[in-house]
Amino acid sequence: MEIRKIGIILNGVTGRMGTNQHLIRSIKAIIDQGGIRIGDDLVLMPDPILTGRNENKLRALAERTGITNVSTDLAAALADPRYPIFFDASLTLLRAGFVERAVKAGKAIYCEKPTAVKTADAVALAKLCEDAGLKNGVVQDKLWLPGLRKFRMIHEQGFFGDILSVRGEFGYWVFTGHHYDQPAQRPSWNYRDEDGGGIIIDMLCHWRYVIDHCFGKVTGVSCLGATHIPERIDENGQPYACTADDSAYATFQCENGVVCHFNSSWNTRVRRDDLLTMQVDGTKGSALVGLRKCWVQSSAGTPRPVWNPDIDQPIDFFGGWQEVPDHQVYDNAFKIQWEQFIRHVALDEPFPYSLMEGAKGVQLAEAGITSWKERRWVDLEPLR
Ligand SMILES: NC(=O)c1ccc[n+]([C@@H]2O[C@H](COP(=O)([O-])OP(=O)(O)OC[C@H]3O[C@@H](n4cnc5c(N)ncnc54)[C@H](O)[C@@H]3O)[C@@H](O)[C@H]2O)c1
Repeated sequence: MEIRKIGIILNGVTGRMGTNQHLIRSIKAIIDQGGIRIGDDLVLMPDPILTGRNENKLRALAERTGITNVSTDLAAALADPRYPIFFDASLTLLRAGFVERAVKAGKAIYCEKPTAVKTADAVALAKLCEDAGLKNGVVQDKLWLPGLRKFRMIHEQGFFGDILSVRGEFGYWVFTGHHYDQPAQRPSWNYRDEDGGGIIIDMLCHWRYVIDHCFGKVTGVSCLGATHIPERIDENGQPYACTADDSAYATFQCENGVVCHFNSSWNTRVRRDDLLTMQVDGTKGSALVGLRKCWVQSSAGTPRPVWNPDIDQPIDFFGGWQEVPDHQVYDNAFKIQWEQFIRHVALDEPFPYSLMEGAKGVQLAEAGITSWKERRWVDLEPLR
């Protein structure tokens, strides 16, 4: 049995996403499970080095995770041939600079979304990787959420007939930090436009690949953004002005006629089944898709409501839905995509979630912002 080490530079992983999803739930989890087993003769074993600016933060993370190979010298890690993969989960506005350095070093590139805040920059970054002949990929984790996998399975089985529309509700209450017992649970840069923040650039990137893969290719967007809360408290306890949008009300048209409307908000209290729910209505059936669960109602099981506000509602609307059962143990979505990327690099297996695909998400977000600012529908052009 060959155990092949795959060296990976993990950059900017002391943050929220890097630590929890990429280091602990993906790379460390893959190491702990004994690597990625390829048949009877080969195991691909991640061999990570954690890079960042702050030695103390890196050491603390090493202690917490047991991944002890850390360095503040990114240039040295990039020059080291033991690491063929470079991954970045640092701040959005730093992404291009880091990726450009890694491309110069000839690394395969994998990174968080968004890859930039402007389409032209995202496309340029994708072309840079392509022209250098380097394998590349962007995180599109939502595609492997159990709820979405259940949806795609029943969709392929023909459950919906023709899908007509999709209504997505995403969000939760992010505390402003003004009350000391209720600290903010997201980083302050998320609320500053000048730092690459804003819910449109954050979430429309996700909605692009979710809609493209699940419902139909997106062709146009109408979006209204808002900054509902003008001031929040930062990591140092200081008030700051929110310059980025914290809510977005967006409608997307697809080439197959499906209409998708997604509300995304950091200022909403949850009274629904999950932090993201998507109601999909088709001619033969509907589904309510959450992060892990999926409930369905078929044409035959659809109740016949009568409008009468003078009496309490006699129909138990929630009772008329059936849960799609788990058909397996569903692995972490980030981990599944990591395993696919490592196999892509080591074994040349296909990996369609490239930087150019990621650029499409940036394109939708930028079009959403244009729609909001110019108060009009914006059509999407093919990217190349
Ligand atoms: N896929 C998803 O669902 C998802 C969710 C949230 C965030 N993200 C993306 O992940 C990225 C990180 O977001 P986050 O919420 O973890 O932010 P965060 O603020 O928690 O983490 C940012 C990280 O970047 C590091 N960093 C900052 N400046 C650096 C520098 N000069 N050199 C090296 N590292 C530096 C910080 O130390 C920290 O480790 C963003 O691009 C964000 O859009 C993706």
